[in-house]
Amino acid sequence: MSNRTFTMIKPDATAKGYTGAILDQIIKAGFSVKAMKWTRLTPEQAGLFYDIHRERPFFGELVEFMSSGPIVAAILEKENAVADFRKLIGATNPAQAEEGTIRKQFAASVGENAVHGSDSDENAMIEGDFFFSKLERF
Ligand code: CMP
Repeated sequence: MSNRTFTMIKPDATAKGYTGAILDQIIKAGFSVKAMKWTRLTPEQAGLFYDIHRERPFFGELVEFMSSGPIVAAILEKENAVADFRKLIGATNPAQAEEGTIRKQFAASVGENAVHGSDSDENAMIEGDFFFSKLERF
């Protein structure tokens, strides 16, 4: 089991000024930052990142939203990182997220859900590689 996961703080959360509060909760939950950048995806890049969802009905909306403003991308380290991070952020739909989770506190809807967290060790690697070169991770 890998000890790394990948996250993005999404455009809804950066626009509302939640970046600092979200990072604070991530750090306090025991994750350490191995790479981080503030950036903005083009629609093409957002489409490539979410390529596995290309056939889903919400794909167009997802790409438009994820390229609508700045994001923070990061590689995080902790024992059992993928599962523990998904627990910390809560269900994809904030209406179903548990009390105290990041999505419960900061997300508006299933589309504008404040943060992304990798769903497997394999995807954590692929997603981290999408954003960061070897020189940018520690
Ligand atoms: P994320 O974990 O980043 O990965 C895929 C994203 O698709 C997911 O978060 C949601 O933000 C988005 N998504 C999933 N289901 C829907 C939906 N029904 N409508 C809009 N967006 C969705």
